[in-house]
Amino acid sequence: MTDVLKILSIAGARPNFMKIAPISAAIEAHNAGGKHPAIDHVLVHTGQHYDEKMSKLFFDELAIPKPQYNLEVGSASHAVQTAEIMKSFEPIVQKEKPDYVLVVGDVNSTIACALVAKKLGVKVIHVEAGLRSFDMEMPEEINRILTDSISDILFTTETSGDENLLRAGIAKEQIHFVGNVMIDTLLTHRTRAAQSPILTDLHIEPKQYAVVTLHRPSNVDDEATFSGIMTALNEISRTLPIIFPVHPRTKKRLAEWQISCSQAIRFVEPLGYIDFLKLVSEARIVLTDSGGIQEETTVLGVPCVTLRNNTERPVTVTDGTNHLAGVEPEAILKIANHILTSWQRPDTLPELWDGKAAERIVEILSSKKSAVIA
Ligand code: UD1
Repeated sequence: MTDVLKILSIAGARPNFMKIAPISAAIEAHNAGGKHPAIDHVLVHTGQHYDEKMSKLFFDELAIPKPQYNLEVGSASHAVQTAEIMKSFEPIVQKEKPDYVLVVGDVNSTIACALVAKKLGVKVIHVEAGLRSFDMEMPEEINRILTDSISDILFTTETSGDENLLRAGIAKEQIHFVGNVMIDTLLTHRTRAAQSPILTDLHIEPKQYAVVTLHRPSNVDDEATFSGIMTALNEISRTLPIIFPVHPRTKKRLAEWQISCSQAIRFVEPLGYIDFLKLVSEARIVLTDSGGIQEETTVLGVPCVTLRNNTERPVTVTDGTNHLAGVEPEAILKIANHILTSWQRPDTLPELWDGKAAERIVEILSSKKSAVIA
């Protein structure tokens, strides 16, 4: 066995990019510091997200190295997309022969590549393991359960993840609570984001607007649910203008169903990481069905209303700024109203969300390899 650790990492969809960026940077720093074993890092983009604004912009802004491979699978049904990723990824693993395949998050690219690696006898690392919404109607929940069950090393962002994994029968030695790589990225880019001109560009003032994002199939692919949410948003926009960067899926549904939207809701194209971070940092309130935004608002101290009945990130509710509202207009309005009139920022932050998660991951991986070599 040589004194080189070869890791093949997967990035597929937008929320993967901010997780891969700090891991990639921590590996570069490890190598630049002459630490052993040297890490040979090969990056694969599956092409699940491919629009300039959903993908390339993030690679540029977050200085993620150009992937050695792009599978260019694009959009399709879950089965076809997963299958296409698997078909294209298998020969790459056979050619590269990595020690590990590293997957992040819970998207289709995550499970597809984990499954290919495991069946070829390559060890799987899952970053952001153990999260559970306990809602099997979410495609991501299926991806999480399956990926965790075939992973060899599981890095968790919060202790609920450790508990969920132990309950599922995963051995304690495989689980490492390291903190949150998405927050590494946020802390790295916060100062730069402060300089973003996005508020001036949109003619808005700090704390004088709300930010909304919606893209979950359960919210936007069901006309009644989507209309109900928009009813609540229309009402909120009577007192606070809303900026709504629109995901392609959501844009399609808005046009298809001609859902009525107030003039005070401004739909904008998906934003890059830096502009979006600035927009959220200065918002009075954020309403979202995203997982990552629940975490980012917690660290930024901005109140978040999650438009879902559950969250796989409970620490954002107990130690952060997140409130679960569900999708009924009355419930959304009640919580939004509470936040806008009497909310106090909590003085707690989730443990280990300190910007050093990727460093811990690289340290643990290199110590495992060193132990094997010794
Ligand atoms: C995927 C992830 C979800 C994540 C989200 C972030 C899965 C199961 N879902 O959902 O967990 O929160 O990414 O955005 O992996 N489209 C474009 N351009 C693109 C990408 C998508 O126009 O670059 C459109 C296509 O019409 C496509 C639709 O968006 O059919 C949905 O894309 P897809 O990758 O299937 O899932 P997301 O809803 O983005």
